[in-house]
Amino acid sequence: MTLGVIAAGGRGTRMAPATSWVNKHLLPIGNGRLMIDCPLDTLRGMSFDQATIVTGCEHAGQVSEYVQDGHDWGFSRVNYEIQPKPAGIGDVVSRVSHLVGDGGMFLILGDNYFSVAPCLDLDVNMAMVWEYDVGSTEKAKAFGQINRDRFGQPCSIVEKPFMPEHSRIVVGAYFFPKDVVSRVHDLTPSARNELEITSLIEMYLMERRVVVMPVEGVWADLGEWDSLQKFIIDCARGENDGSGSSARGASSRI
Ligand code: G1P
Repeated sequence: MTLGVIAAGGRGTRMAPATSWVNKHLLPIGNGRLMIDCPLDTLRGMSFDQATIVTGCEHAGQVSEYVQDGHDWGFSRVNYEIQPKPAGIGDVVSRVSHLVGDGGMFLILGDNYFSVAPCLDLDVNMAMVWEYDVGSTEKAKAFGQINRDRFGQPCSIVEKPFMPEHSRIVVGAYFFPKDVVSRVHDLTPSARNELEITSLIEMYLMERRVVVMPVEGVWADLGEWDSLQKFIIDCARGENDGSGSSARGASSRI
């Protein structure tokens, strides 16, 4: 079985002062929904029956008070893990590694919206990431980005590229095979003192064990005011219904 994880930690400093009082993932996103509804809907759209939410110490109680056992989203059970310090997405992986079984783990960031749930590949020995075209190299600077060799094969990944070569970015959804449990312990803190998810992906890229798929439908990172406001306006205009992931990504191995 694949472990389904939502990363909902961090201090949300980019959205202060609202996030001084509320966990970022509980901010309203329009249509009566909260941010964390998005990854919960995505996991359910992929047929996950259980979810593990990783939150920071600040406001952790708010998240469990809202989601509870996940029954309202269709889960049979939701588990919670604490990330004491915002030490990066790689650190989130390490905090749930004791729960990873033969089916590996699928991790989604708590501020990422997918109109169509990602679909997992059948090969559980390959890591997976998804790319989305944000329309300009300027916008791509805020994300992670895969580079390809002259044969078109993914060969490296850069976090927050200074001079992006293209406008496709890596979204906040990742599948890792079961050997992630040992790999994650080899991560060392980056210049910003975080365990970077991109460093973990780089390990699999070096072994040519990464499948890169395009995101289907609309994707948005709701973790900044600009993108959240655009998302809410697009929903109001009917350009994006914002109602949660459709079940395109259902997979028999979950
Ligand atoms: C994180 C990842 C980045 C990815 C992005 C997608 O960045 O580190 O690689 O492209 O999520 O939302 P953050 O939003 O934490 O800066």
